[in-house]
Amino acid sequence: MRKILLVLLYLLGTAAAQAATPLQRMQQLVDYVGVDYPGAVAGGEVVNPVEYAEMLDFSRTIQDLAEGLPVTEARPEIRTTAALLNSLVTARSDAHQVSEATGKLRQLLINGYDLAVTPARTPDLQRGKALFAQQCTSCHGVEGKGNGPLASTLEPAPTNFTDLDRYRQRTLHGLYSTITHGVNGTAMKSYAKLPDDDRWALAFYVGQLAPTDLMKFEGKQVLLAGSIALD
Ligand code: HEC
Repeated sequence: MRKILLVLLYLLGTAAAQAATPLQRMQQLVDYVGVDYPGAVAGGEVVNPVEYAEMLDFSRTIQDLAEGLPVTEARPEIRTTAALLNSLVTARSDAHQVSEATGKLRQLLINGYDLAVTPARTPDLQRGKALFAQQCTSCHGVEGKGNGPLASTLEPAPTNFTDLDRYRQRTLHGLYSTITHGVNGTAMKSYAKLPDDDRWALAFYVGQLAPTDLMKFEGKQVLLAGSIALD
């Protein structure tokens, strides 16, 4: 039963991928604020005005979108948390508080509206690598360091996928949804025209550029230990 439900969720997720619903848009913005805020504000001071303007815009949009969500049991807490997030960003609060609020909001949205956050099939990393080489390196660079030939002309600059701090903040689903919807007001456009599998392959490919081989090995051990414990 659970499996059938999951499959249905994936199918719904795939069908909806072309046009972002308000819920998907909200989820993407929440992920985005969680990852980008530490680059905008540090120690109560704005360190990057362009980034901070984006954070203000996004957190206000998140609050507006929360007001318009379908009425469910989950909505009141989502509205309160979205309002809290907006006031934290406006007050230039500590990045820890902001990422706590985005983390909570993310979870409330996933649970409250049954959002699919995993791919339907195991992503093909080789395919992701090939697509990346064809379509992404002009900005993100051959090694994904954010230093492609166009990078110096862009503000904000293309993301450096090998940055470990950023890697620790984000989720694979967050990468997938940025690839799907793009980021308004930046050179990062939507790749919704690519098939769903390709967007997941790209998300998994760029998502594994930061950790070292040792980190990947250790992560795998944790995962294996977890699945044995579940059996
Ligand atoms: C024309 C330049 C350009 C191209 C081509 C491009 N990007 Fe981007 N991308 C950007 C910029 C600029 C940003 C940063 C946006 C911001 O900071 O708000 C970005 C951000 C991203 C992010 C968000 C990363 C994070 O940590 O939040 C992802 C994921 C991404 N790009 C994936 C891709 C993939 C995959 C491709 C190829 C299919 C691609 N991009 C092609 C310019 C580009």
